Amino acid sequence: MILDGKNVASKILTQVKDRVDSLNIKPHLVVILVGDNSASKIYVNNKKLAAEKIGIKSSIIEFPETISEETLLKKINELNNNPEVTGILVQLPLPNHIDKNKVVMTISPKKDVDGFTPENVGRLAIGLKPYYYPATPQGILMLLDEYKIPVEGANAVIIGRSNIVGKPMAQMFINRNATVTICHSYTKNLEDKIKTADIVVSAVGKKIVRCKMVNNNSVIIDVGIFKDVNGKLTGDVDFNLVEPTVKYISPVPGGVGPMTIASLMYNASIIYS
Ligand code: GUN
Repeated sequence: MILDGKNVASKILTQVKDRVDSLNIKPHLVVILVGDNSASKIYVNNKKLAAEKIGIKSSIIEFPETISEETLLKKINELNNNPEVTGILVQLPLPNHIDKNKVVMTISPKKDVDGFTPENVGRLAIGLKPYYYPATPQGILMLLDEYKIPVEGANAVIIGRSNIVGKPMAQMFINRNATVTICHSYTKNLEDKIKTADIVVSAVGKKIVRCKMVNNNSVIIDVGIFKDVNGKLTGDVDFNLVEPTVKYISPVPGGVGPMTIASLMYNASIIYS
């Protein structure tokens, strides 16, 4: 069965719109884009379009690749102190001369709609509610919940250990009482680990999940999105061969991508004073 992220995302966006309509203050999401990364430009524009559709004000601040770290940090501090700005997102990756961690650490945790700051990551880790949960793992849980796929007690295998997806996904699965295995490029016997999983979340960015690794009960969540040799958008999973074998699978496109946007919009609708 296909996990229809597009459809579920649209339902969530309708709910978020109702929430936004009922607020006294209009949320204002500021997205900072540094440089000319073409994928980042598309992501940032998609976020802006989604925000506008549901009544969230959204601004994109573009800086050239050559911007200094100091100027960027100064801008973030300015936005932190601007009460009219309720959410701040710095699109990653950043150029090499800028310390990504320093940038993330500068964002006020109460405006950190990505949930990437040490305070929000730490809160998640010690079982305190963060101000915001990272959008992609939160969106994946929303998708699993919509299809009533049990997380409690499930063996969840995550492929990829990024700060954006793998690590927060693991933490959020643990908090939902799943048994979690995180796999990465040094993992031995990846195939055996995936085979025994109830839920597989793949966030690698290359074709890695093959038909022989899955079973009739597998739930496969494909976070990867990249262009294949023919320029066609594809994910980490060999969809055509895996889909007939497994219980549930999220497609690319139309799976995790729209859920991430809906989940981010949910975050952007939360305002802390
Ligand atoms: N780059 C890829 N995914 C993300 C994300 O979720 N947030 C930010 N800020 N940058 C990203």
